[in-house]
Amino acid sequence: MTYAVGVLGATGQVGREFLRILEAGDRPDLPIGSLRLFASERSAGKRMTVRGDEHVVEVACPDPHLFEGLDFVISAIGDVEARTFAPVVAQAGAVDVDKSNAWRMEPGVPLVVPEVNPEAARAHRGIIAGPNCSTTQMVVALWPIHQVNPIRRIIVDTYQAVSGTGWRAVDELRAQVRDPQGAPRQQYPHQIHQNLIPEIGSYKGDGLFSEERKMIDETRKIFSEPDLAISATCVRVPVEVGHSEAIHVELERPFPPEAAREILRKAPGIVVLDDPRHSEYPMPLSVAGEDPVFVGRIRQDPSHPRGLALWVVGDNLRKGAALNAIQVFELVARNGWRPTAARDGQEVHA
Ligand SMILES: NC(=O)c1ccc[n+]([C@@H]2O[C@H](COP(=O)([O-])OP(=O)(O)OC[C@H]3O[C@@H](n4cnc5c(N)ncnc54)[C@H](OP(=O)(O)O)[C@@H]3O)[C@@H](O)[C@H]2O)c1
Repeated sequence: MTYAVGVLGATGQVGREFLRILEAGDRPDLPIGSLRLFASERSAGKRMTVRGDEHVVEVACPDPHLFEGLDFVISAIGDVEARTFAPVVAQAGAVDVDKSNAWRMEPGVPLVVPEVNPEAARAHRGIIAGPNCSTTQMVVALWPIHQVNPIRRIIVDTYQAVSGTGWRAVDELRAQVRDPQGAPRQQYPHQIHQNLIPEIGSYKGDGLFSEERKMIDETRKIFSEPDLAISATCVRVPVEVGHSEAIHVELERPFPPEAAREILRKAPGIVVLDDPRHSEYPMPLSVAGEDPVFVGRIRQDPSHPRGLALWVVGDNLRKGAALNAIQVFELVARNGWRPTAARDGQEVHA
């Protein structure tokens, strides 16, 4: 069985990454029978070739008729737009797999990482959210550990690539590299070239920026651990693709690093690269374009008898966004988990 799939935000970074995954044939068994591409008026009429077929980009408007006939829509648009479009897509009878922040914490909307909480997707009502890119790679790496030795506290410091902001930020970094003095500084409050900026998202007034709040709230929802102690410091770095995270966890019991390494080696979606003697550990340059989440520098935290430290790196556009959406689509399609509430004519959103 194959499905009619739409990509909303097809001209953006995440949308293009989704199409690149299709184009490269990385997942030849994806059950896609037909494909439609949508973006803003800015891209009206643009032509994009996917698997040899040319597609004309359609202008998205919030009218359910536009999405009729589609089974799934992979949505990679901004938060404000996603708030409008997701219920419209669901109303048209398609499953909206949304990559934005708009629906993640909404009660009744599953927030899904297939390696961690696949069953959560079963209860959807037409909208399924994927987490923030930095949350996604962290939960993939920590879930296998949490299952055998429950995590009591997480402290995470991130080193996040500019592509996490969108294609304009990548252009801005490149322009600043070429002309540090004259290039615009519009995407961030400071120059990002030759700099680090400890500010991602909007300031929340409680000392946190929104990205840090997302890592806390989303991890708790995905793990079904509403009281899990989490502290995050999110930092933007002048790297194009690939988020890195230094993670310290406090566990229920002491945990030898070798036991953690063994568990992570067997876990889905993870590659362990951990040979510090030979300078082997994951880095953004080596993981960009790769599907798995890479883990290295696994060690006892010398400051705590039940502490473990890890270094986790992932491609924010792949597992952090497009790939996770594809996996959600595959999961829901394979299991035939239809958006029952939407089809029964009930409210689509809470
Ligand atoms: N980048 C990441 O690492 C990452 C990771 C996880 C989640 N996300 C989330 O994924 C979403 C997309 O991110 P991105 O990095 O791909 O952004 P982006 O590169 O800025 O692309 C945005 C896309 O949205 C389209 N769009 C904008 N306004 C629209 C409208 N009114 N109607 C229809 N389409 C519209 C744009 O079309 P035009 O080209 O026509 O303007 C473009 O295709 C965001 O919510 C982001 O937070 C991103």
